[in-house]
Amino acid sequence: MLGVYLSGTGNTKHCVEKLTGLLDADAKTIPLENPGVIEQIKNNDTIIFGYPIQFSNAPYMVRDFIKENYMIWDKKKILCVATMGAFSGDGAGCKTERLSGRRIKR
Ligand SMILES: Cc1cc2nc3c(=O)[nH]c(=O)nc-3n(C[C@H](O)[C@H](O)[C@H](O)COP(=O)(O)O)c2cc1C
Repeated sequence: MLGVYLSGTGNTKHCVEKLTGLLDADAKTIPLENPGVIEQIKNNDTIIFGYPIQFSNAPYMVRDFIKENYMIWDKKKILCVATMGAFSGDGAGCKTERLSGRRIKR
């Protein structure tokens, strides 16, 4: 298991670290900006993937990362975690659908 997050002010970092630690005390949690993030994702079957909602969607950086690295998600269990200030959009759902393969443009 691996925790991956994008976080501006720390809310998402806190949530992903906490959840990943509760699910697997030995699991690492790293930021999306970590230079080794692609290799780390490839090496783990289960990914806890967190991002903050911005303007009712995942941030561009998250959307681009998923799309540009479309080949690393196949056959993985991915749990999307979205933090937000108030209800808007569909939170974790927007990237869950993309990661399921239905909306990834190749
Ligand atoms: C530029 C920007 C846009 C945001 N847009 C939304 C939004 O559309 N809906 C919402 O509920 N929260 C929105 N928020 C609030 C963040 O999603 C929320 O504070 C989140 O927990 C921040 O996570 P972070 O501390 O990991 O960056 C926005 C925050 C920023 C900075």
